[in-house]
Amino acid sequence: MQFLNTFTPDLVIESPGRINLIGEHTDYNMGYVLPTAIEKKIIFEFQKNGSDSECNVYSKGFNVGFQLDLNELSKSEIEWENYILGVLNEISKRTDKVNGFNCTIQSNLPAGSGLSSSAALECGLAFGLNELFDLGLSKIDIVQLSQIAEHTYAGTQCGIMDQFASVMSETGKVILLDCKTLESKMIPITLDPYTLILLNTRVSHNLATSEYNVRKNECEQGVEVIKQYFPEVTSLRDVSEKMLLHCKPHLNEIVYKRCSFIVAENQRVLEVAAALESNDLTKVGALLYEAHEGISSQYEVSCPESDFLVAVAKTDANVLGARQTGGGFGGCTLNIVHREAVASFIEMATKEYKEKFDIELEAFEVRPSRGTKVAGLEVR
Ligand code: GLA
Repeated sequence: MQFLNTFTPDLVIESPGRINLIGEHTDYNMGYVLPTAIEKKIIFEFQKNGSDSECNVYSKGFNVGFQLDLNELSKSEIEWENYILGVLNEISKRTDKVNGFNCTIQSNLPAGSGLSSSAALECGLAFGLNELFDLGLSKIDIVQLSQIAEHTYAGTQCGIMDQFASVMSETGKVILLDCKTLESKMIPITLDPYTLILLNTRVSHNLATSEYNVRKNECEQGVEVIKQYFPEVTSLRDVSEKMLLHCKPHLNEIVYKRCSFIVAENQRVLEVAAALESNDLTKVGALLYEAHEGISSQYEVSCPESDFLVAVAKTDANVLGARQTGGGFGGCTLNIVHREAVASFIEMATKEYKEKFDIELEAFEVRPSRGTKVAGLEVR
């Protein structure tokens, strides 16, 4: 792309991926989640280009770019472009202050690995344009418009967790987020002498988008039935185990399984938050294992690769807990591992994974990190 020859950025933005300690698929059920941003991120460089509406976006990693006109926004056939176009479309509904810009993107966040590279892309763009053109959007505006962009342009009916975590996170903390009220509490996470290790299965099964929307729909079907017996219920968030049992005879088997997972998972989030506050890491770990069991057998969004890696973790006494993190069907497992045993755990998992699936495992440590920011700003 031509602009690259003379490109000097006016602004650099760092937009991180996220992990979710626990609370999977609870966000669109108006429940609780416990995510945080990680150091792996997308870096955006922005420059105003003086034109009214012509924009150029270039991915350094993939060595591809595209041009767009702000006055003619429409969906693209190319998946990643839709994250950009969707955000621009949402911003255009709120303000006409965006003019032509050039932008480059570079990422060390593995795509399709359950670490929300899509939210990082959406939120980083919105955050950057807000700074560059002084749009006056608040952080929560950025979170919400990015979530809507994902619904309308990317086609996933996602909840709010990923965008919220990518933008709002603080160093050394996880966010206990109530997805119904958007109230949040920052919980310091001190795992010492343990640490968080991600094992990337390096598979991302195609089911991720289609089955995601199916799960959401199954939960909604559950709510429709439960409402008939408990009219005060507006989402699975309002449902207790007892209420669910009461409705069991009226729910089809699959819908019942999905609902039981969500009801239990919501409870687990609160239990993990409490266990973190009382520094009971053994309990945190046990709840992670329990959550994975539900992800795999009740919500059925795991895959053989993730199940295998969680099973491998269980054989190592230095691992307190593990589960698949993110939307599912692959991506990463999150493991709480004793610092001194990190190397031996990774070595064992890599060897066994290679033997079983003939895939090179990717493993790395993650630390709860700060959300989207202008590069160079003091880290809080
Ligand atoms: C994806 C979605 C989130 C959330 C998770 C599952 O990452 O974008 O909103 O639903 O899956 O917890």
